[in-house]
Amino acid sequence: MTSGFKLFFPARRAALIAAALSVAAAFPVCAQMGPPIAPDAVTPEIENKSDAFDVPFVPSHDNVLKAMFDMAKPTATDYVIDLGSGDGRIVIAAALDHGAQGFGVDLNEDLVRIANQRAGKAGVAEQARFFVRNLFDTDISRASVLTMYLLPEVVQELRPKILRELQPGSRVVSHDYHMAEWRPDEIRLVELSPDQQEAIVYFWTVPAKIAGRWEWSLSHPPYFDDERIGYSAVLQQAYQDFDGRMEITLADSRLIEPKLAGKRIFFATVGELKERMVRHDFEGVVEGDRITGTVRLSGGFPTITLPWSAQRTGAAD
Ligand SMILES: C[S@@+](CC[C@H](N)C(=O)[O-])C[C@H]1O[C@@H](n2cnc3c(N)ncnc32)[C@H](O)[C@@H]1O
Repeated sequence: MTSGFKLFFPARRAALIAAALSVAAAFPVCAQMGPPIAPDAVTPEIENKSDAFDVPFVPSHDNVLKAMFDMAKPTATDYVIDLGSGDGRIVIAAALDHGAQGFGVDLNEDLVRIANQRAGKAGVAEQARFFVRNLFDTDISRASVLTMYLLPEVVQELRPKILRELQPGSRVVSHDYHMAEWRPDEIRLVELSPDQQEAIVYFWTVPAKIAGRWEWSLSHPPYFDDERIGYSAVLQQAYQDFDGRMEITLADSRLIEPKLAGKRIFFATVGELKERMVRHDFEGVVEGDRITGTVRLSGGFPTITLPWSAQRTGAAD
């Protein structure tokens, strides 16, 4: 399955490139990351040790934070993890403005110290904690919201870890860089200030794993007689996209309008029941090897909605 998603990077403004390059003389890798907000304006005592790390310290602009939260919608029930947390602004703002809990990790111990001090001063030291840790060695399985402002190759390297460790339905936001073939669910262009370039925020929902063979049966008059009718679907998946083939009582039917949003799955098919063509609209929630939801049957007889439950019975062929 191929993705139609094309690479999309922010437009660079000439004046800002000049400004970025002058800062880059002091912080060599910053030029790749967009307009560095002078670190000494934010965190005076930090020495930028970026050369040793995968990504330099460049704090996210307030407007980027607003966009990230607008897209990921953290609440008091969410756990936010920021990979490469810098001065802690993302997790602190998530705690202060949205009541979320969470932590950030950074390799720069000065930044981690400052982030913890800032959380203390803001009165959210319990909800927003910061650790000196390599982001690649961090257990992110608790995150219902994962945030990142890293470099393209780092974001892409994190993709399998994100898909492996995060629960389906968790939200991921990334400042400026995307995850290549994993098409974002939403992209926002964020205006910074007039003298700065725009930023981009990418948003994904972690999809449930639905590849494999699924089976179920249905029975309800007037669509069915007394016997239960057997269905099967063999699904292939690439991130949130899926396709496959279906059978209704061993007769091939086409899978149409497939959609996967985190744990919620939707698809339809048309098949013959009692010599009439019947449209089936399935929707359900994927929990491990089971999908539970409803199917709406229409065409030929009065429309009805029935409970639906499917079981994964094997791998995709
Ligand atoms: C661009 S800054 C983002 C800071 C913050 N997340 C924000 O958006 O304001 C990236 C941060 O990642 C940290 N970093 C770089 N490589 C890292 C690694 N392997 N593990 C943890 N942190 C890392 C840097 O020290 C820096 O503070």
